[in-house]
Amino acid sequence: MTGAGTRAPAAVIKLGGRALEKAALRSVFAAELGSLAGAWRVIVVHGGGAEVTAVSRRLGHEPRFQEGIRLTTVEEMEVVDMVIAGSANKRLVRALNAAGVRAVGICGSDGPTLAARPEAAPPGTRTGRIEGVDTRLLATLIDAGYVPVMSPVCDDGAGGGVNVNADTVALRVATAIDADALLFISDVDGVRKDGAVLRRLDPAAADEEIAAGTITGGMVPKIRSSIAAVAAGVGRVHVGDYDAVGALHALLDGARGTVVAAPPAAAPAANLVR
Ligand SMILES: Nc1ncnc2c1ncn2[C@@H]1O[C@H](COP(=O)(O)OP(=O)(O)OP(=O)(O)O)[C@@H](O)[C@H]1O
Ligand SMILES: [Mg+2]
Repeated sequence: MTGAGTRAPAAVIKLGGRALEKAALRSVFAAELGSLAGAWRVIVVHGGGAEVTAVSRRLGHEPRFQEGIRLTTVEEMEVVDMVIAGSANKRLVRALNAAGVRAVGICGSDGPTLAARPEAAPPGTRTGRIEGVDTRLLATLIDAGYVPVMSPVCDDGAGGGVNVNADTVALRVATAIDADALLFISDVDGVRKDGAVLRRLDPAAADEEIAAGTITGGMVPKIRSSIAAVAAGVGRVHVGDYDAVGALHALLDGARGTVVAAPPAAAPAANLVR
């Protein structure tokens, strides 16, 4: 609850590249986000992996992945810049602007906000890990009433871009700003097991689901980021999709999708209650 004189709670909303493919749905989402933005300080982080893969293939480059993480070549980094920091980012910013949300498209290199280092292997990869988050640009934008829309393109400090999975970026931004909520909106209605959506995923059990092959591909970094967010004290962590007006509020309230959280503490046994 926010009382007089206290700041609105902060939410990081991570949008997958295929989460809002239809322009009509983007508009509906943008309007709902606008209605949230009064009560919440909102940062949007987005992906765009599928689009990068499609454009890379058109250019004759077959992407490679390891545990759902793209192994970005130097050529592919250019595609990541063009597609994720470029067209995917602008598409979202324009949809939000059209809904009256004052959106500002940035990437991790702006500020710079996200300092990153490429992984040591395979040699030459532009896939990397975040070394530091500088929240000053995000805070400046939010305090001035803008909604930052951030693509996960990071900065190596030596003039190069570094590609980091957008789920990891959302996690690192959420913990750096001490967010109250972290939503992963994807193209799937939650974490699925045996044909049904899990309403709750216990962090302690999640690693087993990854080891057992229930959680694979792009869901692996999402769940690893969710577990880390819960451990860091982000109060609400949810995974789900967006299909109609109301879905954003429903996700935030835990009424749809998967809640990543430890089970509630067991109620005391009746004979122990005095
Ligand atoms: N147990 C699972 N439940 C649900 N989805 C799963 C599961 N295991 C693997 N997946 C896959 O994870 C995908 C979501 O991750 P993906 O990286 O493809 O999308 P995203 O993270 O939303 O988008 P982007 O990577 O563009 O940011 C789903 O489309 C599904 O194919
Ligand atoms: Mg992904």
